[in-house]
Amino acid sequence: MIKSLRGMNDILSEDYERFTYFINTATDVAQKYGFHFIETPLLEETALFKRSVGESSDIVGKEMYQFIDKGENDVCLRPEGTAGVVRAFIQKKLDKAGGTHRYFYHGSMFRYERPQKGRLRQFHQFGVESFGVDSVYEDANMIMMVADILSRCGIGYRLQLNSLGDNNCMPTYRDNLVKFVTECKDDVCEDCIRRLDTNPIRVLDCKNDKCQSLYANAPKLINNLCDSCEDDFSKLKKILNDNDISYEIDTNLVRGLDYYSKTAFEFVSDDIGSQSAIAGGGRYDRLVEFLDGRPTPAVGFAMGIERLMELIKMPEASQEGYYIGAMDEEAVDLVVKLSHKKRKTDKVTIDYKAKNFKNHIKAADKVNAKYFCIIGSNEIESSTITVKDLENKTETTISLEEF
Ligand code: HAM
Repeated sequence: MIKSLRGMNDILSEDYERFTYFINTATDVAQKYGFHFIETPLLEETALFKRSVGESSDIVGKEMYQFIDKGENDVCLRPEGTAGVVRAFIQKKLDKAGGTHRYFYHGSMFRYERPQKGRLRQFHQFGVESFGVDSVYEDANMIMMVADILSRCGIGYRLQLNSLGDNNCMPTYRDNLVKFVTECKDDVCEDCIRRLDTNPIRVLDCKNDKCQSLYANAPKLINNLCDSCEDDFSKLKKILNDNDISYEIDTNLVRGLDYYSKTAFEFVSDDIGSQSAIAGGGRYDRLVEFLDGRPTPAVGFAMGIERLMELIKMPEASQEGYYIGAMDEEAVDLVVKLSHKKRKTDKVTIDYKAKNFKNHIKAADKVNAKYFCIIGSNEIESSTITVKDLENKTETTISLEEF
C-alpha cells in the first residue's frame, strides 16, 4: 500500500473542521485589523530563501526541499511565507508606491526536519506581514493580533519577547559575543564553533545544555541596545502592559531566521510537548532592501496550524440543515429532486437507499441535522411533506410545492 511521506499528514473529517475553524477565526481577526489576503506560489527560486532566511540558518542549510526543475532552474518548496510575500511586494512595485500595505496568508510550508510530535515536513502556517509602518505600535499590533486569535480559539500561551537591536547596536554586540564564545571555545559544541563564522548570534539558541549553561554568563544584547532600540523596546513593553498582555523577556530568543532586527517574539504553549512554539515573528526592516526593493520597514508573524489544532477549543456544533430520507425505492427520485431544490439555500443530507424510519432518524442524528423529512407513498400521494424540527421538537406539514 502506498502511504503518505513521513512528516506529511492528511487533514480530514474532524481535523479538517478544526483546521477550517482556525483559518476562519484567524482570517476574521486579520480582517478586523485591516489586513488583506495574499497568495504566493509554493515553489520559488532557491536564491530567494538563501538571501532572506539566510544561508547560515538551519532552514536553508539543512531543511530545504530543493531541486533543479526541467528548465534547469534551482527551485525549492517554500519553507516559510515571509520571503515570498516580500518578493511579491517588490515585484508589484508596492515598495515604490509608499504607504502602508498589510497582508495575511495561509498555506503549506515544507521543511525537511526530523519528524516528531508537533514537527512535520509539510505543515501549515497562518501569517501576516505589514509593510511601511516604522512604529513600534505596529509591533504591538502584531502581538495583540496573535493574542486575539489565540483567545478566540480558547488557547492559553506564554509570550516571550526580545529585542535584536539594529545596525547601530548589533555589530558591537556581535563582536562582544564572539569574544566571549572564543574564550570558552574548547567547551562549546561543534555547531557553535561553526556559528561563530556564519551567524554568531545563533549560538544563543543552541539546544546543547552545556553551551546553554556557559551562555548564561554571556553579554546580553538587551543590556547593549542603542538609545533608539532601547526606547522602542520600552515603549513596546508599555503598550503591552497597557493592553493587559503579559510577557516574559527571553534574552536568548534570536529566532531561526536571519532577517530580524529589533522586536522578536514567540508564543509558546506548555500543553503540547517539546515543540512548544505556536507562533513567532518580529520586525524585519532590512529585508525589502536586501531583496533589491526600496528600504521599507516591515513586521510580521506566523502561527503553526497543526500545533494549534491540538489546543483549539471548538464551540459546540449547532444542529444545521435538512435530512431527507426515502421510505421505499420509488421515493428516491423525489428525495433527490427535493434536495436539489433545497440545496439552493440549505445544507441537505440524503441517502440513495430506502430505509425504515428508525434508521433514518439515526442517520439524521449522526449528521446533526436540524430538520428531518421522510418521503414515502403517503407523501407522494398527498403531495405533502412533514418537516420535523429536531432541535425544537415541533413539526409542520406543507405542500411539496412550498418545500
Ligand atoms: P517560524 O518561527 O519559523 O517563523 O514559524 C512559525 C511557526 O510555524 C512556529 O512557531 C511553529 O508553530 C510553526 N512551525 C515551524 N516549523 C514547523 C514544523 N516543522 N512543523 C510544524 N509546525 C512548524 C516563520 O516562519 C516566519 N516566517 C514568521 C514571520 C512572519 N516573521 C515575520 N513574518
